[in-house]
Amino acid sequence: MSKVSKVWSRQILDSRGLPTVETVVQLDTGHTAVASVPAGTSTGTYEAVELRDNDPANYDGKGVSKAVANVNETLGPGIWGLDCTDQATIDQRLIELDGTKNKSKYGANAILSVSIACTKCAAIVQNIPLYNWINTLSKRAGVDAKVRVPTPVFNMINGGLHGAGNLDFQEFHVIPATSKTYSEALKIGVEIYIKLGKNLERRGAIHSVGDEGGYAPNLFTNADALEVIFESIKESNYQIGRDVFLGLDVAASFFYKNGSYSIRDKSNPLNDDALIDYYKYLNSQYHLSHIEDPLHEDSWESWKKLYEAFKGQLTVVGDDLLVTNQERVEKAINEKACDAILVKPNQVGTVWETLLVVKKARDAGWKVITSHRSGETNDWFIADFASGTGSDFAKFGAPCRGERVAKYNRLLSIEAELASGQK
Ligand code: PGA
Ligand code: ZN
Repeated sequence: MSKVSKVWSRQILDSRGLPTVETVVQLDTGHTAVASVPAGTSTGTYEAVELRDNDPANYDGKGVSKAVANVNETLGPGIWGLDCTDQATIDQRLIELDGTKNKSKYGANAILSVSIACTKCAAIVQNIPLYNWINTLSKRAGVDAKVRVPTPVFNMINGGLHGAGNLDFQEFHVIPATSKTYSEALKIGVEIYIKLGKNLERRGAIHSVGDEGGYAPNLFTNADALEVIFESIKESNYQIGRDVFLGLDVAASFFYKNGSYSIRDKSNPLNDDALIDYYKYLNSQYHLSHIEDPLHEDSWESWKKLYEAFKGQLTVVGDDLLVTNQERVEKAINEKACDAILVKPNQVGTVWETLLVVKKARDAGWKVITSHRSGETNDWFIADFASGTGSDFAKFGAPCRGERVAKYNRLLSIEAELASGQK
């Protein structure tokens, strides 16, 4: 048994240049592992709390020195002596130390950095790949999963809070067919991304990249973004509906105000039913395969209506709706609100709780999409997490920007290891 003997933390920067937490866990064997945590911008209201210093004189209030101190002074010493391979006990101890329902005392960012560093340490000390160790943990949590490299979901155009442009919808996805190998899928994504850049340039649309590496153009409507992706795919060697599909993360809570949705595609604000009708139209034009957060995170009745309307035609994904939270997932299963979950470990704050959420989703027959956040570091933990939990999809942004590519490249090495039978 290898015990945690030392834990230390520091403030580093994420891909937006904002502070985040990096933690090192050391075992009594001398092995160490380091983990850093991501941060969202379009965070769901019900996510676990990311602790920030809120001191305007430092990092514009975004510092995480309190979270770092919480690891160094309380959370770290609190897990000294625990067996690093007993993730459930470690995470339970972290939850108890914090003592709040939403991890607001010590911060989900502080807690998750310790939790992930322990997961990594356990893999290192046992000399097994991280994805295999996560697979063992998944099985322990009751997930019937085989290690697999998931299909990538590429966020090709960044709107909403992630773009510098004027689009209301947050993400416009290209999703290669699940029958493709991961390397084929990555190649498809890159080739379409290059064509899309040229097409945006031809239209005179600004195409600097947004937070997740997708282009952030100014266009007339959200439908235009789908249109230009559609055109780019038509010019490629790939066929829509066979090799590649389109998807959306609408992140609708962002443009929901006073009971209706204002989008540039329509001159008047839309109510829930009118927005659902507009999605039907977009689906008829662009054959969407996924739609994420199509409605406000509290509009349960409309989610049910939308799911009923699209069931069997496209995958309805809950992100802000579910926030990787067991209770909200249970509610969504009972209410038949969606049939897929976006899994983000930092929405809940520990590895073990994330696995329990995956189990719930799988038991309901849902699809699982493991996801990055818009603010990331080069830590590629979620690539191993996605593979070890047998996730269907991995949403790590566009195939551009170092912190996104770090994860896509990690999936390449996992694919190669699996092909060569290395365990
Ligand atoms: P976020 O966006 O990381 O800014 O929350 C990602 C998403 O909505 O999927
Ligand atoms: Zn989302």
